[in-house]
Amino acid sequence: MNNVLLISARITSSVMDGKNLDKLFIENFKDPQSNLTENKKSQIKAITFDTLRYFKTLSFFLDSLIKKEIQNKLIKYLIIVAMNQLTYGNKKIYALVDEVVNLSKEVDARHSGFVNAVLRNFLRNKEELRKKANEKLESKYNFPLWWIKKIKDFYPNHWEEIIYSQNSHPPMTLRINKKKISYEKYKESLIEANIDFKELSDVAILIKTPKKVDDIIGFNDGCVTVQDLGAQLVANILDLKDGHHVLDACAAPGGKTGHILEMVNVNLTALEIDSLRVIKVNENLDRLGLKAKVINDALSMKNNWWDQKQFDRILLDVPCSGSGVVRRNIDIKWLRRSDDFYKFQKEQLTLLDHAWPLLKKNGKLLYVTCSIFEEENSQVISLFMKKHSNAKILNIEFPENIKRFGKQIVPNENHDGFYYELLEKI
Ligand SMILES: C[S@@+](CC[C@H](N)C(=O)[O-])C[C@H]1O[C@@H](n2cnc3c(N)ncnc32)[C@H](O)[C@@H]1O
Repeated sequence: MNNVLLISARITSSVMDGKNLDKLFIENFKDPQSNLTENKKSQIKAITFDTLRYFKTLSFFLDSLIKKEIQNKLIKYLIIVAMNQLTYGNKKIYALVDEVVNLSKEVDARHSGFVNAVLRNFLRNKEELRKKANEKLESKYNFPLWWIKKIKDFYPNHWEEIIYSQNSHPPMTLRINKKKISYEKYKESLIEANIDFKELSDVAILIKTPKKVDDIIGFNDGCVTVQDLGAQLVANILDLKDGHHVLDACAAPGGKTGHILEMVNVNLTALEIDSLRVIKVNENLDRLGLKAKVINDALSMKNNWWDQKQFDRILLDVPCSGSGVVRRNIDIKWLRRSDDFYKFQKEQLTLLDHAWPLLKKNGKLLYVTCSIFEEENSQVISLFMKKHSNAKILNIEFPENIKRFGKQIVPNENHDGFYYELLEKI
């Protein structure tokens, strides 16, 4: 049973049971017996992403067409995946229905008549069902109700555009490594290869048709990195100077570590608690031809790894809910719970407390999340400021093409959602 639709159905079902999507892809792809080509793996990823993106609409369709809950989960999710393809895909409709009916025979032959009937009924009533799905918040916006309400509360005048952005396909943006290639030269190579692009900053270029990293010109030579425009603000905001002693305190996979080192010649320590993710930091630095002191240890109360020399600059890119990057981590939509945000807040505040003693007087610390909710952002900073009288909040100048409300960046067609706060030790 290694058909792409069946594997997507199995993975979607497991995500809805609470499992992490990246881990599921690894588990499902690792079996050499499955004979999955790279092309098939990409198809499975694309179909699963789309099914999870529109999950509430699709399950509304299914619930409207059946009288009682389908007991066989794989059959249920196969129908949902098929409905996604019939609604948003580009395969020939009747060939697809036949394929799905045949697949259902592999799962359990007793259900094939039912699957056939549901899908054909769906095709007959698709337009009517779409209208009805638009009448309910969850099936219209494809998020849990609590999430929709939360966005409405935080962004009363912009909530709908934010949700639509969160449901869109994410942009693919490259960061040009000026230590390897000039911006002009890289642009010329894109023009020569007939690649459509949009310039976003003096190092950021958005590629209009996303590609696999291996197919991106200059990627394997370290000339470019795939990084969202919103994440590329760090190096400028940190106000770095050559010779600075810098700590990247939550470094993996090293996206921002690389950017800092491409811009300035600093003495950088990259700290990361997760030993597997440290490998990624090293791989990325090697690919880019850059050097840092990479340490696999934790920012903590003890900070045993630290040589007692305080840092001029600290980047604290903390673990968070990822609510600003849902469209890239689509399982977040269905795995997050409304009380997760205070758990993250507690961890974020602790990390800030642990990083603060490592900063020099007059030094700057940049606090970053990829969250669009205040519990992890302004609330963390307010709580921190109440406890630390030697901290001052600095103004941040953002580029004009960043969509934001104060220091809260929200997702749009050019970038994901982030939060930035720059603190000075006085
Ligand atoms: C948001 S990610 C960082 C992304 C990274 N800055 C980049 O741009 O590629 C947060 C990272 O912090 C790490 N982390 C969490 N707690 C930590 C701690 N106490 N000390 C060091 N790293 C930690 C996580 O394992 C995770 O890799």
